[in-house]
Amino acid sequence: MMVNVLVYAVLGLILVMLVVMTYQFHHLDKQSQDAGDAQKDQLHLSQGFIYTCLVLVVMALIAYTWYSAKGTPYEGHLMEWLNIVVRLMHITFGIAWIGASFYFVFLENALNRTENVRDELAGNLWAVHGGGFYYLEKYKVAPKTLPKHLHWFKYEAYFTWISGFSLLFVVYYFNAKAMLVDTNVMNLSAAAAIGIGIGSFVIAWILYDLLCKSPLIKKPFLFSIVGFALLTGFAYFYAQVFNSRAAYIHFGAMIGSLMAANVFFVIIPAQKAMVAAAKIGQPVDPSYGKKALARSLHNNYFTLPVLFVMVSNHFPSTFGNQYSWAVLAAISLGTAGVKHYLNLKEKGQYNVYILPASVGLLLAVSFVTAPQKNTDECKPNVSFAAVNAIIQSRCVQCHSSKPTDDVYTAPPNGVVYDTPQDIVKKKDLIMQRVVITKTMPQNNKTNITPEERNILRCWIEQGAIVK
Ligand code: HEC
Repeated sequence: MMVNVLVYAVLGLILVMLVVMTYQFHHLDKQSQDAGDAQKDQLHLSQGFIYTCLVLVVMALIAYTWYSAKGTPYEGHLMEWLNIVVRLMHITFGIAWIGASFYFVFLENALNRTENVRDELAGNLWAVHGGGFYYLEKYKVAPKTLPKHLHWFKYEAYFTWISGFSLLFVVYYFNAKAMLVDTNVMNLSAAAAIGIGIGSFVIAWILYDLLCKSPLIKKPFLFSIVGFALLTGFAYFYAQVFNSRAAYIHFGAMIGSLMAANVFFVIIPAQKAMVAAAKIGQPVDPSYGKKALARSLHNNYFTLPVLFVMVSNHFPSTFGNQYSWAVLAAISLGTAGVKHYLNLKEKGQYNVYILPASVGLLLAVSFVTAPQKNTDECKPNVSFAAVNAIIQSRCVQCHSSKPTDDVYTAPPNGVVYDTPQDIVKKKDLIMQRVVITKTMPQNNKTNITPEERNILRCWIEQGAIVK
């Protein structure tokens, strides 16, 4: 107790000091509008240092809280709140990033390139939004003199990635045995599974980056076929090593990492080089802009597949399918196809077959993943006693008001099977998770048998009667 108070007091004091310092520096920054570049760089360096310290102290606070709550009922509560905070940050930054990405690809596509365009311009665009008129111009390469204030779009991307990576830890890596590993898929230790997850992102980036630097980049159609094959390979790989949900999330996190790395390693450096050249009045090498534009376009096509993955955890008929990786690949292709149609449309090139083909593909996925008619025999009048016996031996370890499972100290999603009514109320979800998608019991930790799944099905089909 004494130690706790002391640790919190010290960390809290440091935190307060750092917060005060950020305000001081903010004032300095405002006052130094006309200061020289060197001075400003110095100031921004110090600011960066303080921000980093702030983040580290907050992380230390969380780590210490976790350490003290470990093994107590507060641990689950802490993880839930970490989840809430990090997830909210992730979706907020993600929306800002993807919103900006959509907006700029739209801008590029919709530019007026012909009427009243000055020589140095690539095009312009009039827009009305939020009660005001906007007029934008895009330069062919760079303006003759650079403006003093130039807005960069990069923190959206970095913070989306950082918060996403943190969420991966909060949800999957801190609890790898339950959330990441499925021993029926592959018997991995937690450390090995986490290593494979993180390693796969690095390997994906190396392969993708090589692909972008190969001559293939000049042939967009071939490039997309090879790129898609590569992504499908990753979807397949993840399905062979992780539990099905984690496999999906890793596919999304892998693509998200490619997107963030595109910004960090290619797009921003290219823009920095362009700005540096323009500042000293040198001609800007247009190949920088071209490379950055290609990566930014890839990012644009990645968005819809990634968004699907991020919500896919709610849809057991996708990740729970026997060929979950193929479902994922097909949905990625279909959603990227929809984006392609939208991009062409913004350019005024209406394409008659891409949208129907993409929607057709998505419909085909929903068709082939539809539950098969189960032809296994049912005994007449399956008794509730038989069903209850299965639930009691395979489910209540987790789904009861006082779970006995080693991981879940509170009933997951609030689902409990303590009374007959609890079971009847959830019969449709039981059908979906236990019989059709077989995604419950989680990782089949309690070893339910196919015969038992069939008994549950028969009972539900016969009207789920308690007697
Ligand atoms: C090892 C723990 C564990 C066991 C055993 C287990 N579950 Fe679950 N169950 C979970 C977790 C964790 C979730 C929440 C995550 C998810 O939906 O996959 C969940 C979610 C569910 C849901 C979805 C609830 C919703 O709101 O969507 C249903 C239905 C369900 N379980 C039914 C069952 C049934 C029936 C059994 C027994 C045959 C069972 N579970 C056994 C851990 C378990």
